[in-house]
Amino acid sequence: MSAPKKLFIKTYGCQMNVYDSERMAEAMGAEGYVTTDVAEEADMVLLNTCHIREKAAEKVYSDLGRLRPLKLANPDLKIGVAGCVAQAEGAEILKRMPLVDLVVGPQSYHRLPAMAKAAEAGEKTVDTDFPEEDKFDHLPDRPKAAVRPTAFLTVQEGCDKFCAFCVVPYTRGAEVSRPAERIMSEARGLVEKGVREITLLGQNVNAYHGAGPDGDWTLARLVRELAKVDGLERIRYTTSHPNDMGDDLIAAHGEEPKLMPYLHLPVQSGSDRILKAMNRKHTAEDYLRLIDRIRAARPDMMMSGDFIVGFPGETDADFDATMDLIRAVNYGMAYSFKYSARPGTPAAEKAPVPAEVADARLQTLQALITEQQRATQEAMVGREVSVLFEKPGRLPGQMVGKSDYLHAAHVQTDLRPGDIAKVRITKSAPNSLAGEIVG
Ligand code: 5AD
Ligand code: SF4
Repeated sequence: MSAPKKLFIKTYGCQMNVYDSERMAEAMGAEGYVTTDVAEEADMVLLNTCHIREKAAEKVYSDLGRLRPLKLANPDLKIGVAGCVAQAEGAEILKRMPLVDLVVGPQSYHRLPAMAKAAEAGEKTVDTDFPEEDKFDHLPDRPKAAVRPTAFLTVQEGCDKFCAFCVVPYTRGAEVSRPAERIMSEARGLVEKGVREITLLGQNVNAYHGAGPDGDWTLARLVRELAKVDGLERIRYTTSHPNDMGDDLIAAHGEEPKLMPYLHLPVQSGSDRILKAMNRKHTAEDYLRLIDRIRAARPDMMMSGDFIVGFPGETDADFDATMDLIRAVNYGMAYSFKYSARPGTPAAEKAPVPAEVADARLQTLQALITEQQRATQEAMVGREVSVLFEKPGRLPGQMVGKSDYLHAAHVQTDLRPGDIAKVRITKSAPNSLAGEIVG
């Protein structure tokens, strides 16, 4: 028997890419590939790319450049580009980087094994179609191995919102929801393999409207049905749009204990003028009232968000409005980015804010977020939280897990990965908590 071929996958960007990389590894596993963490020993290197900001896309080209010596040393090495840069640039990638053998967009991953075979036969292929069928239907079932207590599960892809700065509607296409029963059976399969927490993924996950046995299911319905699965202890979902936060979903946060009290709800800006220019279709006030309603249902809800500074036309007053909104919400966590013009998006046509102004705003905003994050974490000291243990920590006898609020927690215990226990928090370090088992 010949030795298995080795596949090295590098994943850039979002959690949906993490999930897609796992599914691609599984599909290639059926073709005799095993994954490796060492690019130098790989027979195939696959870059699962992100196109959301310019830096992310440029990184792919510099990484491809760095693969050149590997390809020279091993001419049989196959190099593939997957993900949103593949979708956006297609055959251009082959022109710019002739060392690439295949280019596969996010909707065509079920074709990857065939494309890898073509590459082995010396043929270059590009597939960036948006086929009608669900790509996940054509990927093999999830394997028995790789038991981790937490898993991602993509339920929805694409976006119809067309925020003026964003490439997602172009790279991932229109919103598509997977059928509810497929998700339920994938979730049950994960739980049988030891998974205790599932994070439902989608670019616009709260717009989920997949076909169910009795009509379309909303995300709230999906959550409530998943909560009935024995052995599944925690449910999360990301990323949401404020305008799709339905009453049923808000109610589920108040009523369903398995739905975790952490919500990533990007707002991007606190200025109504900028929100309008961004085509967000909501105001700052809409967002704040929404958070009031969410916190009325679930008072301890930990909020997380995304912000863009330096969007074209952003004035000091607009930026101040964003800072005010952040103060009003009090985030436990937030991601912030300097605006990056993406070719093909409406905002890319407009005059940019000077880079030094945007840099200074980003620093100011990040300092406020860091402070809120630190204070929120410190407020956990003395509280009892539930922790799902994931893996051994660095110290002997230590385990690391996540609290309901998604804080990393270090605990001395002989509990195992997958166990959940009440933990009293004793200490807050910059990026994690420490605590002891209660009782
Ligand atoms: N420039 C900067 N940040 C962006 N994001 C999306 N597009 C851009 C862009 N062109 C950010 C948004 C989004 C997150 C995933 O990335 O904040 O919510
Ligand atoms: Fe992009 Fe806006 Fe859709 Fe989010 S909601 S993926 S930012 S277009």
